[in-house]
Amino acid sequence: MTPQVDPNAVRNVTCIGCGVIGAGWVAHFLARGFAVTAWDPSPEGEATLRHIITAARPALIDLGLDPEAGQLTYAPTLAAACAAAEFVQESAPERLDLKIELLAEIDRATPPTTIIASSTSGFLMNDMQAGAAHPERMVVGHPFNPPYLLPLVEVVGGKKTAPGVVDRATAFYEAAGKTVIPMAREVPGFIADRLQQAIWHEALHMIEAGEATVAEIDKAIAAGPGLRWAIMGHCLTFHLAGGEGGMAHFLEHFDAATGAPWTRLAAPEMTPELEQALITGCDDAAGGRSVAELTEHRDRCLVALMRALEAARAPDGAIP
Ligand SMILES: NC(=O)c1ccc[n+]([C@@H]2O[C@H](COP(=O)([O-])OP(=O)(O)OC[C@H]3O[C@@H](n4cnc5c(N)ncnc54)[C@H](O)[C@@H]3O)[C@@H](O)[C@H]2O)c1
Repeated sequence: MTPQVDPNAVRNVTCIGCGVIGAGWVAHFLARGFAVTAWDPSPEGEATLRHIITAARPALIDLGLDPEAGQLTYAPTLAAACAAAEFVQESAPERLDLKIELLAEIDRATPPTTIIASSTSGFLMNDMQAGAAHPERMVVGHPFNPPYLLPLVEVVGGKKTAPGVVDRATAFYEAAGKTVIPMAREVPGFIADRLQQAIWHEALHMIEAGEATVAEIDKAIAAGPGLRWAIMGHCLTFHLAGGEGGMAHFLEHFDAATGAPWTRLAAPEMTPELEQALITGCDDAAGGRSVAELTEHRDRCLVALMRALEAARAPDGAIP
């Protein structure tokens, strides 16, 4: 049965699992005015949830949101939590056997037209939906920590997810204030965690080989590319590194994929198709803005970010 609930009319959201991510979702949905029903099997579940929600309050208020805009109900059982759900967000521990069993249980307890989303960091919905009677309404809705602040949600279905469900989940998350990437294809780790993992692995190699320390690696990112990534990501940043010629010149000039082996992660062969995908992708992202206009935009945002970080940092500068 394909989900019928109008994604823009959802009021009742259920969050299953109330650890770091589940409770972060609850804080987010409450600040966006939803009626949230939460459940966690741990005896400390409710206390942990309330502790995390309280800790999120100042940041949400700083963002101009009312942390108590919605209503929170802590349910006594999973079945009670799911009975009237119009959208379910599952955030249980990252174990495939647990996710398969839990999603099947949530599936039995939830009206069959309700979308069920998993916060999994990298499992495929195709694997997780295996035990469900209604797998067609299941998607991955992968957030970034903390979900009450970071906008990104990656949405992707499995082979049994019905057409249109990814779009409906995307519409729901967007209505709930998120920045969503609806993915056409399932890949383990989705997009952002694959990128993070590539950097993480290189960092591990560098530490193990004595090439850099933990502090140097974190400083290199926080004071360098990390600031630029927050503004326009990686590809468009390199588009600017190509000067007026943009990505096309960058690829010629820096021989980006086949140059010096600066990383252990081998690059794919730079085929004409890959080159064209990069150039076209950057042109699309630039949306008609020239390299000079984008450079001005980047610099303005960098100054704003650097000033904001300076104002927000502890006076002793202990955290980079
Ligand atoms: N921590 C992150 O940075 C992060 C980011 C994005 C996604 N995720 C994903 O979110 C999910 C939750 O991660 P987390 O970091 O919040 O973990 P966590 O350990 O902080 O919380 C997990 C919660 O699930 C509860 N739980 C245990 N068994 C359960 C069950 N059978 N049913 C329902 N709840 C159960 C636990 O009591 C706990 O409160 C994982 O799939 C993880 O991969 C984590």
